[in-house]
Amino acid sequence: MSAAAGAPREWPDRVALRFALNGRAVDAWAAPHDTLLAVLRDTLGATEVKYGCGEGVCGTCTVLLDGAPINACLTLGVHAQGRTITTVRGLAAAAGAPGTAAGDMHPLQRAFVAHEAAQCGFCTPGMLLTAYALLADHPHPTRAEIRTALGGNLCRCTGYTRIVDAVEACVRARQGGDRA
Ligand code: FES
Ligand code: FES
Repeated sequence: MSAAAGAPREWPDRVALRFALNGRAVDAWAAPHDTLLAVLRDTLGATEVKYGCGEGVCGTCTVLLDGAPINACLTLGVHAQGRTITTVRGLAAAAGAPGTAAGDMHPLQRAFVAHEAAQCGFCTPGMLLTAYALLADHPHPTRAEIRTALGGNLCRCTGYTRIVDAVEACVRARQGGDRA
């Protein structure tokens, strides 16, 4: 048996992280057990990422990790190492959407405003990012598919209809653009 085999295993207190946050390289120190949500909110001040249940149920902490929606409360910060994180602040820039200038809202955000799809707004960042990821993978979903995709994002205010209306309107607008 080697000497190392019986030695207590040592873990670092903190790990140096570097990743891209909304298109910019960021550096942060994190404990190995820190969640990505804690790193984003508490270390980097990205308070647009919301803390709801803290246990993967509500979806309000949704961010995009290399373009895929994840619950930041269930993801360790170390998983962000070398990767790309997008929060709702990065949506317009990340989209590079046609007709979107720097600082503009993404068409999904404009549709949420037009359809009054946000009330308290606490669920809205997660809803927008989940909808964005859906349309990136599946540009023309049906209403039922939109509902299914948003199933992991809870809203306590709107009753969901206006949110689905907004995403559907965005899809229709795109289809109009596709035909043009
Ligand atoms: S805070 Fe992450 S799913 Fe609720
Ligand atoms: S708008 Fe309040 S929780 Fe959705």
